[in-house]
Amino acid sequence: MDNALRLQYLEAMGIPVWVSRIAPPPLLNADSLELEAITDAVSPEPDTVAQILEALPETAPDDWGSLAAEVAACTRCGLCTTRKNTVFGAGDPHADWLLIGEGPGQQEDEQGLPFVGVAGQLLTEMIRAMGLSREQVFITNIVKCRPPNNRDPHVDEVASCNGYLQRQIALIQPKIILAVGRIAAQTLLDTTAPLAKLRGKVHSLNTVPVIVVYHPAYLLRSLPEKRKAWQDLQFALRVHKEQQ
Ligand code: URA
Repeated sequence: MDNALRLQYLEAMGIPVWVSRIAPPPLLNADSLELEAITDAVSPEPDTVAQILEALPETAPDDWGSLAAEVAACTRCGLCTTRKNTVFGAGDPHADWLLIGEGPGQQEDEQGLPFVGVAGQLLTEMIRAMGLSREQVFITNIVKCRPPNNRDPHVDEVASCNGYLQRQIALIQPKIILAVGRIAAQTLLDTTAPLAKLRGKVHSLNTVPVIVVYHPAYLLRSLPEKRKAWQDLQFALRVHKEQQ
């Protein structure tokens, strides 16, 4: 494959290509021709896109520290202009259980920690009721910055943050995900179905089981649903046990 065509392929795949602006030497001497013949024999030029991709250096594996640093410095959407702190998440980065809420509220924005307000206290109780502690699970949100006045996050804000969440999931490798509340459930499962239709079922995200549970802020407003919330948590415990 000639060089111009190879560059075209790489560019079409979005792979940045570096082209020397320095003109090549006008004449090749006998030695360099010989060298070219040898390298051609040892490593023939790739002919297919697959061969080109195979020949590319592997990207560095992701790591928790650089992901956290990227989130802390993020300016991908407008929420960065109103936040006080990003809220990356808290808990055990190797946890079986990953709890994903909607987005930070005022307290979370001030402290840089997830679920530390009133709803957070109820979530902590829910975790305890399951025989776990906050330190044994990992808690994060769909968006890492507070939407002003606690409004629902906008589509572009969710999209901007999605890469971070997917990388967190890939690094944690949880055995089970709890989608806490409607926004988290609808975002993770890419659906507009109401929470009542989503709870009580085992969904999945890249083979990881996802259980939808009521948001504690909703439970604080709607006490009669607390019994259903406990049923959902017990259901999640059973699903987790099946993963052992
Ligand atoms: N509600 C959420 O969804 N997440 C938090 O971190 C706090 C409140």
